[in-house]
Amino acid sequence: MSDKRMDLKSRIDPARLPGHVAIIMDGNGRWAKQRGKPRTFGHHNGVTSVREAAETAAELGIKYLTLYAFSTENWNRPKLETDALMSLLLKTIHKETKTLNKNNIRLNAIGNLQSLPPLTRKMLEKAMNNTAGNDRMTLTLALSYSARWELLDAVKKIGKRIGEGELDADDIDQSVFEASLQTHGMPDPELLIRTSGEYRISNFLLWQIAYSELYFSPKFWPDFRKDDLYEALIDYQNRERRFGKISEQIKAD
Ligand code: IPE
Ligand code: IPE
Ligand code: MG
Repeated sequence: MSDKRMDLKSRIDPARLPGHVAIIMDGNGRWAKQRGKPRTFGHHNGVTSVREAAETAAELGIKYLTLYAFSTENWNRPKLETDALMSLLLKTIHKETKTLNKNNIRLNAIGNLQSLPPLTRKMLEKAMNNTAGNDRMTLTLALSYSARWELLDAVKKIGKRIGEGELDADDIDQSVFEASLQTHGMPDPELLIRTSGEYRISNFLLWQIAYSELYFSPKFWPDFRKDDLYEALIDYQNRERRFGKISEQIKAD
């Protein structure tokens, strides 16, 4: 281990780790373009970063890692690219299931999974079943996901329950609403990271990030390494999360 890495890791307080880290993995296409290669080359190289982020988060003791891998809006990309992404997803899930089990990581997915190609969906479901007993960390892939889709889907589910007389509209509170979201049972992310120097949310977890700390890395996703995650966590730990209160109250708690 290099001195620099040891140094970064030792600056992370294990007692104050976020329970849930979410990442908008962005910049694969530009990374490839810089190298004169097709965009799909960037997606292939992004898999290394996924593996490293998952291993690093699990090693540190982070319980939930959620990765934005494909948005509802990404279906509007050229078919050649969406096809390549779907087959990369299929291959990667197939290849990595063993490692997930070795590392005691449970695979989970959020999004409109019905819209995935049947083979990709089957492989995903198989991997989720195969890793369902793992409890060191939950790795959630957001696939064909967008927050507005998720929110509308939750509203529909709640509407149906009201229609069936199972729920009273006055009883809708935060916990009833959260139970209808794709992320039910998961804590909100304390930290949201976006790579590639873009400063936007792109329809990711709008409800859940209400109080998340946002961290933007200038690196393209295929360049995002262990140390970059360490740096994001150090930055997060140097912040004061006030939740509407004043600093003195937080210090007194
Ligand atoms: C992120 O990289 C991966 C997906 C959205 C699937 P991009 O493909 O968006 O790469 P850029 O942002 O065009 O460089
Ligand atoms: C967000 O990246 C979606 C994922 C990382 C999967 P995009 O590259 O699609 O976002 P925009 O289009 O730049 O906002
Ligand atoms: Mg992008």
